[in-house]
Amino acid sequence: MFRGTIAAARGPLYTTNPRRVARGRLKAYHSRAGAPPGVSPRFVLYPGIFVMPRPIVARIDPSALAHNVGVARAAAQDARVLAVAKANAYGHGLLRVLHGLAGADGLALLDLDEAARVRDAGFRKRVVLLEGLFESRDAAAAARYGADVVVHCREQVDLLREVPAGQRLGVLVKLDTGLNRLGFPPSDLPGVMDALAGHPSVRDVTLMTHFACADDGRDVEAQLQRFRASAAGLRLPATLANSAALLRYPEARGDWVRPGIMLYGASPFADATARELGLRPVMTLESRLISTRTVRAGDSLGYGFQFTADRDTRVGIVACGYADGYPRHAPTGTPVRVGGISTRTLGRVSMDMLTVDLSPCPDAGVGTRVVLWGDDNPVDAVARAAGTIGYELLCAVAPRVPVVVAPVVARAEGPAT
Ligand SMILES: Cc1ncc(COP(=O)(O)O)c(C=O)c1O
Repeated sequence: MFRGTIAAARGPLYTTNPRRVARGRLKAYHSRAGAPPGVSPRFVLYPGIFVMPRPIVARIDPSALAHNVGVARAAAQDARVLAVAKANAYGHGLLRVLHGLAGADGLALLDLDEAARVRDAGFRKRVVLLEGLFESRDAAAAARYGADVVVHCREQVDLLREVPAGQRLGVLVKLDTGLNRLGFPPSDLPGVMDALAGHPSVRDVTLMTHFACADDGRDVEAQLQRFRASAAGLRLPATLANSAALLRYPEARGDWVRPGIMLYGASPFADATARELGLRPVMTLESRLISTRTVRAGDSLGYGFQFTADRDTRVGIVACGYADGYPRHAPTGTPVRVGGISTRTLGRVSMDMLTVDLSPCPDAGVGTRVVLWGDDNPVDAVARAAGTIGYELLCAVAPRVPVVVAPVVARAEGPAT
């Protein structure tokens, strides 16, 4: 079906020709040379030619990331930008996109593994661990990797004793101003500050809080006031704002802002699209049609017969399923682009495939490019249809999906030749 498909896009080449794959297999799996930037050497057949195990690919555009960092920086004004890159940079691959985050003043990460990876890759700016130390041995490692730590409970104040003598950590004291997840109640702050004052392992202190509903504005003002009341007189740097607060509540900027989702080109709001916010998608999840057919009026399709055609309908089968990270609960009608034309999914998503309506795309055939999300098909719209948020979809792209770090370039949308 894909015999001889060597698509010479304006960029790397790939093939899905099974014989070529078979011939190249040894080389493909044992060569560590010749991988274009961003392509796992696992998929390289020959220098410049790599194999996609299936047509699905996640394309990452670091220039879009750099652009979005610029949008965050403009909104931050004088505040510094701590780019939230936990969860493997929201599923984009932390090291893959590190250079796209170079315009930020630091990174907010989840754990020491992420901190070690960015330090080993040469990142020298501020690194913050958003949940701080989990156990005693983390203290020495945080010091070794120069990671600042959130301290959100008494146990973590105690863990600071485990920092090796002579070394000091930057500490972010987290206040719970209403989210009721992590952090000290404001009434505990004086005691915590006493415990940290003159502490031999503490280099400096930043005050921090996190909003519960910055995306719809509920309680932001109340949380802000609780924070201000607690911070009054302490003269410490503050960090409060996630993407939503940064974009809608300038009064919550503080000294360091912590944007996450907006950097990856998705909207934190239900009532504003990423494009309206001036953001560009960083990830495009795309695949191809691997089969087409016409279902007759009255026929049902897919597992559970979730969709029944009310008229003869041409449909396409896409190489993408829930084992790739596409949400299984995405219902009929979830937006998808086929050959550059907007259409919808039909029926239940299965493990490796999903079905699309080809009624608006009469020229689509086997090999036609399908954009599951990203370029011209916002992840937020797909998420909304599936009853979730863009964050979850981006973070859930499965390890089996090949990733190519390259700008999304204009490619032939039609059937492969
Ligand atoms: C403590 C903290 N700050 C900032 C962020 C970034 O939030 P967003 O991705 O909504 O900008 C997160 C993300 O969950 C977070 O947990």
